[in-house]
Amino acid sequence: MNCKLSIEAKVHWIGTNDRETNLFENYWPLDKGVSYNSYIINDEKIAVLDTVKFNKTTEYLEKVKEIIGDRPVDYLIVNHMEPDHSGSMLALLSAYPEMKIVGNKKTFPFIEGFYGITKNYYEVNDGDMLDLGYHKLKFYLTPMVHWPETMMTYDETSKILFSMDAFGGFGALDGGIFDDEINYEFYEDETRRYYSNIVAKYSQMVQKSLQKLSSLDIRMIAPTHGPVWRESPGKIMELYNKWSQFKAENGVVIVYGSMYGNTAKMADYLARIIAQNGVKNIKVFDASKTHNSYILSEIWKYKAVIIGSCAYNTKVFSPVETLLAKLSNSGLKDRYVSVFGNKSWSGGGVSGIDAFVKEIGWEKIGPSIEATYSPKDAEFESLNKLGKEMAKRLNDEFNINA
Ligand code: FEO
Repeated sequence: MNCKLSIEAKVHWIGTNDRETNLFENYWPLDKGVSYNSYIINDEKIAVLDTVKFNKTTEYLEKVKEIIGDRPVDYLIVNHMEPDHSGSMLALLSAYPEMKIVGNKKTFPFIEGFYGITKNYYEVNDGDMLDLGYHKLKFYLTPMVHWPETMMTYDETSKILFSMDAFGGFGALDGGIFDDEINYEFYEDETRRYYSNIVAKYSQMVQKSLQKLSSLDIRMIAPTHGPVWRESPGKIMELYNKWSQFKAENGVVIVYGSMYGNTAKMADYLARIIAQNGVKNIKVFDASKTHNSYILSEIWKYKAVIIGSCAYNTKVFSPVETLLAKLSNSGLKDRYVSVFGNKSWSGGGVSGIDAFVKEIGWEKIGPSIEATYSPKDAEFESLNKLGKEMAKRLNDEFNINA
């Protein structure tokens, strides 16, 4: 299934789809699969840009051969060393032993450490060029998007930016490889999930990279996951710019942990009050059922989050605790937050979420509301006030007349 990228006939997508692996990085759900995109430039000199995960090596090597026949690969350009992209490096080197491995000085310790390869290194630095004949490649170091060694490669001839993880997303490529061949709504959700799960921790470095790339004439973006941006590369750059600045849409995520339904009852009541007061985007999640990958992505999308938990062995209920740890680690800023929950004796759920709110520094809306045994009239009255206050705050911010 080799597909020529349309700007330049010598540049090919040689990626693979993975619909078998359940968890990306053995943690994040892949129910819609993922693609590992690799590219080959079939010029006077032949360059491959990144490889694919080790479970796809056989299919991958066949694709390389289909494009170049008996000619050898001259360069493997390693934009990123995470094994979902470097996993077929050793096999490619075995097939093409003269191949030079192009990376920056931070790349090579990873290569030696993961694969024991100590030869064929070709070191480049920021702004260096590699001439393939017709295509002239320029390298841009973009550390910590997503690992220390990450870099991007810009083809000055075709004006394609090979951006590795940046601008990528989850979701296998089901036939459509280019942005103009797909319904992007599905991929937007999967791309934001990928951003919030994988890249978001380094949002500041994403911003730096976007500034670094801002003077380039980019006609196409070819990331290592998700669609190739042939028609609207500006669109994905805009989305990454928005997400890395923590800009949010009007809406509320209510997430709760509940053993026997009392905290869940409070969540549903709150959601109803907020809806009655004019907020249309309300997403309610049971943290025990929905993987935090999806909840994190929705919190990245919307301005407000309301977190509830029962007390569990004097702490926050474990699935909510996991989500809080992920949120703390993600570096997300500028959200409204409220807190609620339930206890039967000494508590620990609500106070644990309060401690998280203090640490993360988001603006707290209303007081924390904690029921004892089960929510009663007094708590419903407080939830009613809280729901109205949160809705008003959002309506004011997004100029909605409720
Ligand atoms: Fe797709 Fe950071 O690896």
